[in-house]
Amino acid sequence: MKVLSVVGARPQFVKEFALGRALGDDHEEVLLHTGQHYDAELSAVFFDELGIPEPDYQLGVGSDTHGRQTAECVVGVEEAIESESPDCVLVYGDTNSTLGAAVAASKSAPELVHVESGLRSYDREMPEEVNRVLTDHAADVLFAPSERAAETLREEGIPDERVHVVGDVQYDAILAAREHARSVSTVLDDIGLSPGEFVLATVHRPRNTDDPERLTAILDALASADSEVVVPVHPRTEDRLRGYGHWEEYAERLRLVDPVGYLDFVRLLDAAARVATDSGGVQKEAFFLDTFCLTLREETEWVETVECGWNALVGADPDRIATGLAAPTPGGSKPSLYGDGTAATRIVDVLEARLTPDEVDPNP
Ligand code: UD1
Ligand code: UDP
Repeated sequence: MKVLSVVGARPQFVKEFALGRALGDDHEEVLLHTGQHYDAELSAVFFDELGIPEPDYQLGVGSDTHGRQTAECVVGVEEAIESESPDCVLVYGDTNSTLGAAVAASKSAPELVHVESGLRSYDREMPEEVNRVLTDHAADVLFAPSERAAETLREEGIPDERVHVVGDVQYDAILAAREHARSVSTVLDDIGLSPGEFVLATVHRPRNTDDPERLTAILDALASADSEVVVPVHPRTEDRLRGYGHWEEYAERLRLVDPVGYLDFVRLLDAAARVATDSGGVQKEAFFLDTFCLTLREETEWVETVECGWNALVGADPDRIATGLAAPTPGGSKPSLYGDGTAATRIVDVLEARLTPDEVDPNP
């Protein structure tokens, strides 16, 4: 089986890491990096730490308007499909790179495969929501992390035979990284933090960063926490904070640091008393690592984490953020929400059976 894997932004490198391992040497994976993320701390560090091979294609699309960024992905992925003639094109998550690759693949011969299907925030002002819906409806094969996500796809009229519930590939990645991060990461010492005695925070959604009132409300509420708050700052957020003239003020009140690599981030998340975030992936990872999460949004696509009490939607509301910071960590047993850590292997098995049926022994 020959697979064209398309990545472009930070969370996609993590998802591809899980898939790349499962594809192993039995299949050919051609890797295309759109270049949506290009700074070393958002891109190269993931390739280095996770041992992801050098991409076969680098589109270098960089930062641009949604239209231009997506369009460049369409053109570049289409060319790669023409050159490589893969059996399928794998796209991950919900970024502009995902949508660009989906458009290119949906009009070409190879099957379009969407990893992380069926997630919905039902907020069409989020570019990611548009990307997810369009990609799901263009895809030939859809891998959902949960039964709920699969149900959403059925409700939207996507034929059942295209949808497979396999669990979440970021869970696979966390299982591979957690112990390794504990042994190799020096981030706690580097920043001067003790396990269980700090809050971790990330903020990068335009709804939070591009509205100075929301951003300062969030950061003020975090700065009132009893413990230290460490914030690996996404470049979009740094850009806005500097533009609003608030960088120096918050650098004094919070531990603002550059974005950290995956292993350091997993170590921080594992050791944090809690996390406050507007990230999609970090909400799940917090659940996997038993860290209570405050989601700095009004809604989430990872609803199961809220329902089981390990995630609280606090928006940019200072009172809700303060309450969440002071709340006790949930007790009792945790449900298993997003599979058993073998999502990537299941994906490869499904694709193998579908794309290379003659090569599969019917009586193994
Ligand atoms: C993108 C995804 C988002 C995902 C996030 C993961 C879309 C629409 N958004 O958001 O779903 O959660 O990645 O982190 O696809 N920048 C740099 N260096 C870089 C990359 C970006 O400085 O390497 C700055 C640029 O000023 C750029 C801004 O960050 O304009 C935003 O980058 P962009 O890729 O458009 O969106 P993200 O906010 O990173
Ligand atoms: N992450 C990281 N370093 C950071 C912040 C996040 O390695 O400083 C990882 C995190 O572990 C997760 C992914 O990046 O795997 C999430 O990326 P992000 O929050 O940017 O995107 P989203 O999941 O919201 O699309």
